[in-house]
Amino acid sequence: MDKKWWQKAVFYEIYCKSFCDSDGDGLGDLKGVMSKLPMLKELGIDCIWFTPIYTSPQVDNGYDVADYYDIDPRYGTLEDFKELLDKAHSLGIKVIMDQVLNHSSDECVWFRESRKSKDNPYRNYYIWQPPKADGTPPNNWGSYFREGDGSAWEFDETTGEYYLHQYAIKMPDLNWEYQPLRQEIYKMLRWWLDMGVDGFRLDVFTRLKKPAGFPDTKKAPDPKLDRNGFVVDPSMCTMQEGIHEILHDMWVNVFSKYPNCMTVGEGTGITPENAPEYIAPSCEEIDSAYHFNLASRKRPPFTVAEFRDIQMRWFKTMEHGVWPSNYFSNHDSRRQVTYYGDDGEYRRESAKLLAVLSCTAPGNVYLFQGEEIGMTNVQYDRIEEHDCCYTLGDYYSMVAKGATPQEAMAYVGPRSRDNARAPYHWNDSENAGFTTGKPWLKVNPNYPEINLEADRKHPQSIFAFYQKLLKLRKENPAVYDGDLRFYREDSDKVIVYTRSCPEQTMLVIANKSGDTLPVELPEELTRHSWKRILTNREETAPSLEGGRGWLPWEVEVYVR
Ligand code: GLC
Repeated sequence: MDKKWWQKAVFYEIYCKSFCDSDGDGLGDLKGVMSKLPMLKELGIDCIWFTPIYTSPQVDNGYDVADYYDIDPRYGTLEDFKELLDKAHSLGIKVIMDQVLNHSSDECVWFRESRKSKDNPYRNYYIWQPPKADGTPPNNWGSYFREGDGSAWEFDETTGEYYLHQYAIKMPDLNWEYQPLRQEIYKMLRWWLDMGVDGFRLDVFTRLKKPAGFPDTKKAPDPKLDRNGFVVDPSMCTMQEGIHEILHDMWVNVFSKYPNCMTVGEGTGITPENAPEYIAPSCEEIDSAYHFNLASRKRPPFTVAEFRDIQMRWFKTMEHGVWPSNYFSNHDSRRQVTYYGDDGEYRRESAKLLAVLSCTAPGNVYLFQGEEIGMTNVQYDRIEEHDCCYTLGDYYSMVAKGATPQEAMAYVGPRSRDNARAPYHWNDSENAGFTTGKPWLKVNPNYPEINLEADRKHPQSIFAFYQKLLKLRKENPAVYDGDLRFYREDSDKVIVYTRSCPEQTMLVIANKSGDTLPVELPEELTRHSWKRILTNREETAPSLEGGRGWLPWEVEVYVR
């Protein structure tokens, strides 16, 4: 079956602020990214996903957009971006942009106008409600970042009304009920596509629709975190009835007019069961969506049984034309090798094993900067070292409720998004070669050992392994056209699966544990002769004999 460009693509997420600083101000920038395009080409990726680089007060690191038509001066200029886009395209690398359409910054001109008066032409771009009779907010919703009194509504004195902000106080929600707002957004999306960007990642796309009348949530408060009776309940604004009408309208007005544009949605609530309603081509909404079923900083690390179950359920959605998007970590999560692998003795092996699991899964794969060198979580000692809004909100809520700073740190530190957002490690010079200035976020002290330059010189280089893996993905149609079948489902440590298409069968064997395991494979696998095309244990001879024992975190890929 013919595939669109993006269905075969490997995406690479760039968190610009932490990638590479060209001017010594401590923040990554576009010129820094440009200088590293050759490295990305060598790695073998097909498309960059930029997290938001638009003008922004950076309350949520750019997810609070003040000007949807410009690049934040901290990162460069629009001209720099156009140059980067051209350079990337000339290397055969496409670029997709993050689009934050659920909310803007309060510094966006739309909001500055909106708050001026009730009859301002921009008033209805946002969601305004009068106070209750006693002056309190319109309902009991809490904001995700738990700032201020914890409410998701902020009172604005100028007009005596509250506006809704599901996230930070400085991130008011946009009003998708209002046609002029929709047209404004569509115009802006077309402007980026006309410039040549190849598509969009749509931030929290499942939350654009709010329930009529803004009813109170009935959810019980979380005793550790929720404040003043305001309860964080994502279900109130997630996948509300009417969300499909909005997404389809956007498709009709924008995406349908650009056949090569790709869209991937990010939003909680997407499951294999409901995905076909959003991302099957017949819905005419968006092309693909991430799922949080394996990778979410809030859930415990997945077990081998969960991995099989979830991948199989997602694979079955492909019968309906769904194209899933796989990832294990991103800027909202912990480092994958720390959370799902072993960042100690078997860091290299487990980083490679996770790479194989995500890069041979059905659908797309999204790599996050630093995975290709096995970067790990950071050990944070003090709350002052943190930047992430969730981390700060949760910490101060816990302390306000009587937790000691140590208890609160022990809870928030490992969950913090800052673990993934810490600067990239280029080499072992000061600040990991990320900046000559003062880095905006603490650099992981393990950079002298874990960095790109050192990794590429190492005989067991993780980067070199990714290069082989990404090449293998391109050359073997089973990866994007193959069926999925699991074997040895009785094992709680070993993952064995095949991907088969008419041309070939690919076999993946992964020992997701620190033990050596003599795994017997079924005769229907061992009776064939296989060619090993990838291993993270060069010291083992290719063999499917269980008697030899699979080494800790060993992963192998065979084809026939
Ligand atoms: C998405 C982003 C996250 C951001 C949030 C609000 O989940 O990935 O970083 O904080 O949306 O825009």
